[in-house]
Amino acid sequence: MTDPALGAEALRERAVASLITARDRTTLLTSCVDGPELTAQHSPLMSPLVWDLAHIGNQEEQWLLRAVAGHEAIRPEIDTLYDAFEHPRAERPSLPLLPPEEARRYAADVRGRALDVLEGAAFHGTRLTEAGFAFGMIAQHEQQHDETMLITHQLRKGPRALTAPDPEPAPLFTGPSDVLVPGGPFTMGTSDEPWALDNERPAHRREVPPFRIDTTPVTNAAYQAFIEDGGYDEPRWWTAEGWAHVRRNSLTAPLFWRRDGRQWLRRRFGVTEVVPPDEPVLHVCWYEADAYARWAGRRLPTEAEWEKAARYDPAGDRSMRYPWGDADPGPEHANLGQRHLRPAPAGSCPAGESPLGVRQLIGDVWEWTASDFLPYPGFRAFPYREYSEVFFGPEYKVLRGGSFAVDPVACRGTFRNWDLPVRRQIFSGFRTARSEEV
Ligand code: AVJ
Ligand code: FE
Repeated sequence: MTDPALGAEALRERAVASLITARDRTTLLTSCVDGPELTAQHSPLMSPLVWDLAHIGNQEEQWLLRAVAGHEAIRPEIDTLYDAFEHPRAERPSLPLLPPEEARRYAADVRGRALDVLEGAAFHGTRLTEAGFAFGMIAQHEQQHDETMLITHQLRKGPRALTAPDPEPAPLFTGPSDVLVPGGPFTMGTSDEPWALDNERPAHRREVPPFRIDTTPVTNAAYQAFIEDGGYDEPRWWTAEGWAHVRRNSLTAPLFWRRDGRQWLRRRFGVTEVVPPDEPVLHVCWYEADAYARWAGRRLPTEAEWEKAARYDPAGDRSMRYPWGDADPGPEHANLGQRHLRPAPAGSCPAGESPLGVRQLIGDVWEWTASDFLPYPGFRAFPYREYSEVFFGPEYKVLRGGSFAVDPVACRGTFRNWDLPVRRQIFSGFRTARSEEV
């Protein structure tokens, strides 16, 4: 989000609003459980919620107070505690972390000062403050941790702590199951989206041969057909690594699923429910997505294919910011922002479809792609190598499009996420593709 055409004052207002929206969400996620739950580690994959809270404040202090405004450190001794690279997640509960009340006060103190800095900041002159970039980056950082904290809530045992209305029921989607994306070059990435992060830059031309891509993400019903067909017992659908992983860990279904006689149940934010057949499948790892696609006679889309499907407008022969055009996301376009605590049924949000008719590319579930996380030609790390650059390489797979848990400020047609191919506590799903013979 954040229109390249906005002026400095509009961007300043947007920065204030984005920081406030993020903090409201952080406050909700860290006040709906008690102190012991905030300091507990609910999964070795995750930090205690109180770590995320103070880390959010610490990043904001480092970038908005120290780097932008030249302030002295408020509490220099805590920097190392909240440095994600010094302490792996599994170690974080044993650190002398700020207790919940202190973490809250620290984050609030930083925020008060950051809003003062924002009021007086020039939005030009340095790369860090150009178009309010640092403020947008920090709002996105907080929202990314709000998604991380929502994952922690999903992993947490015990009764429901969060509630949200369900998405509108949608009529069963009866449109074509896939669409043809014509071959040819398109512009991938961006050079003029003011708050785009370093790995989305620069804009460059990419040749993409013609391909077909699913109109909607793969649903639970379709994924169940793969399970019932013995998909998890059949090595031929899996890569060698994927098969080893499935066997070693006895995977038989998406994370949080449990078979109950002839039906599948799942646990979602503390409540057990029947798996809804027409909802996009959630909590699958890259290996599962890849195996399903092979079983279906298809494959995962490459990252370039995904972005072309999401941004290319054949009528104007140009790349748009979103599938529906250049307008910022509204509730009619996409299921974003933790308004709902689940994906919307496949075929939802017709107003958000691409010119070629592809739906739900933005929101609902992060979509695994076939691609490794690599820099674009001309990439420059900015403002710190540890955001993207240190992760580039074949170990990480790219996910695109954002989930129901992602705020619009951290979601756009160019936005890139990445994770290890074994991860499935994230809000991940996928759609499939195939090459079109020419
Ligand atoms: C982009 C989601 C992979 O959570 O590891 C948060 C985002 N970077 N703080 C992550 C991030 C630094 C990052 N992902
Ligand atoms: Fe972080």
